[in-house]
Amino acid sequence: MAATSSQSVYRATTTAPVNIAVIKYWGKRDTTLNLPTNSSLSVTLSQRSLRTLTTASCSSIYPAEDTLNLNGKPQDIQSSKRTLACFFPLRIVSENNFPTAAGLASSAAGFAALVRAVADLYQLPQSPNELSRIARQGSGSACRSLMGGYVAWRTGELADGSDSLAEEVAPASHWPEMRALVLVVSAEKKDVPSTEGMQTTVNTSDLFATRAQSVVPERMSAIEAAIQARDFPKFAEITMRDSNTFHATCLDSWPPIFYMNDVSRAAVRLVHDINTAVGKTVAAYTFDAGPNAVIYYEEKDSELVAGTVKAILGANTIGWEGAFYERLANVTAPGVA
Ligand code: ADP
Ligand code: DP6
Ligand code: CO
Repeated sequence: MAATSSQSVYRATTTAPVNIAVIKYWGKRDTTLNLPTNSSLSVTLSQRSLRTLTTASCSSIYPAEDTLNLNGKPQDIQSSKRTLACFFPLRIVSENNFPTAAGLASSAAGFAALVRAVADLYQLPQSPNELSRIARQGSGSACRSLMGGYVAWRTGELADGSDSLAEEVAPASHWPEMRALVLVVSAEKKDVPSTEGMQTTVNTSDLFATRAQSVVPERMSAIEAAIQARDFPKFAEITMRDSNTFHATCLDSWPPIFYMNDVSRAAVRLVHDINTAVGKTVAAYTFDAGPNAVIYYEEKDSELVAGTVKAILGANTIGWEGAFYERLANVTAPGVA
């Protein structure tokens, strides 16, 4: 006998990409709406290597409780306001094909995929702008994963957050030579989740306000100009300096927060050594809230940069298959794998 419609299970499956910031978001001026204290800018990576795959389903035959299964494990979502903010009674099954909570933007891809899957399920409006606004409330960085290429998230000024939006500043096709190498130093879950870490920094770091108010605004304009001009040395210097400034505010927090480890620092030294050896800037490192490095470079320098990094640091990485090399691609339709 065919199932009656009341017994049907409605499903929607989608994927979302990771984005790695070159100007970091770190600090909230409103913790409920996830409104940032500074603007940020990121590069959306191809879903061919790093992606979240999420299925949202609902049915009258499901138990009344919402559930979220992440990487095969049931999550405690009843106590998580940020997850509940994003959906109504339903069942979510999600899988990241890369380390979760390890500084590779799993919350960005995760919440972008969650919001898109729920919107698909309920056939809600699909514009990246609207989905981005909702995803931001799950995890701030998620608002940038609904767009492809080079994406800015502007702080905005309004208390309701309606002008705190992500926007594409250039499509991936604008700079097709750009590549990113993902160096997985550790797949362990970090000790201090991003949400908690940035709150400690806001409350305790003396450097924090200077970065947010005086340093980042100039860097935002400078990196946007570098992207428009495809000026790799400029893009690279700002990227490395902002990663370092962000980690300096973590160290300046009380108690201090350490996201980078010895292998991360070896990667920093190696990139500077490569750039010094060739007499120009061909590689740029950046670290999110975790020890794992993302190294940006241009395709023409692939052998020099990726080859050298792999030869020298390969033994210190966990050899996570498929993730070591990452090529950026145009992902202007992030719902499409
Ligand atoms: P990351 O550096 O990986 O973004 P965060 O501390 O920002 O680390 O966030 C990690 C948290 O994001 C996880 O503990 C989980 O709560 C949430 N998360 C990660 N992936 C997903 C996903 N696919 N679906 C839903 N939530 C996710
Ligand atoms: C270092 O977006 O993970 O990766 O909004 O609290 O979920 P919540 O934090 P999250 O913070 C990301 C911090 C970062 C920098 C960035 O992605 O811009
Ligand atoms: Co995160």
